[in-house]
Amino acid sequence: MFEKLYLSAVILVSGIVMSGATFAAGNAEAGKAKSAVCAACHGVEGISALPVNPNLAGQVPGYIASQLKAFKSGERANAIMMGQSAGLSEEDMADLDAYYASMVPNLKVTLTEQEAELAKAGEAIYRGGYAERGIAACMSCHGPSGHGIPIHYPRVSAQHREYLEQQLLAFKRGDRKGYNEMMWNIAFGLSEQQIKELAAYMAGLN
Ligand code: HEC
Ligand code: HEC
Repeated sequence: MFEKLYLSAVILVSGIVMSGATFAAGNAEAGKAKSAVCAACHGVEGISALPVNPNLAGQVPGYIASQLKAFKSGERANAIMMGQSAGLSEEDMADLDAYYASMVPNLKVTLTEQEAELAKAGEAIYRGGYAERGIAACMSCHGPSGHGIPIHYPRVSAQHREYLEQQLLAFKRGDRKGYNEMMWNIAFGLSEQQIKELAAYMAGLN
């Protein structure tokens, strides 16, 4: 059962990689200049002060450009980011992508005792999946250390716990659909408690 699921995930993945291999390589230097406005919310070093604003430093190349495109088209609905991306050209997106992907995330995460408890429970699903609901191991797409896989599977480590939880809940509700509704299907099968556990685990990964 799990093997079959894993296989179909891999087939899905290769389909996406083929259809998505069109991103132009950006210029990180140009991206740095264009990121001044982003720094207010995402931090000068790509690490945001507020936990509901995602960290962008060290994201996998390709992912940031794809999300900016999704915000601009409204496919990923968020009032703030729809405004921020409205004036960006594809070249701007590629440059910003190259800049943030080139940064090393400088973030020390210390989980509270309570978060560490949650993380312990989240580890099993992250590494082994949840066969009962047909959910493949998170690490098969996001990597064993949460570093992601270019160009479509985002880094989920060096990320704020609150942001991760909020995104999984948005996928579960169907508010954020994403590529092929992949994460929607996955999050739909998770309970809110499991989402809390997974968010704590990913936030503590490095
Ligand atoms: C006023 C604050 C603000 C500014 C300025 C801002 N952002 Fe954001 N950004 C957010 C918030 C809040 C989110 C989370 C959106 C959500 O929940 O879907 C976000 C999400 C993102 C994401 C998705 C990250 C992920 O892990 O999926 C990207 C990429 C992004 N922003 C890039 C940028 C870039 C590039 C700029 C500058 C051109 C910028 N942002 C400016 C607040 C901001
Ligand atoms: C088959 C591949 C696959 C599996 C398995 C998978 N994911 Fe994802 N995940 C994705 C893709 C693709 C995205 C990109 C976002 C999108 O679709 O818009 C994503 C996005 C995310 C995000 C949002 C990150 C951000 O920066 O906004 C989180 C959080 C996440 N996944 C957590 C998980 C967890 C937890 C699991 C295991 C229960 C999991 N994923 C399993 C493919 C996968």
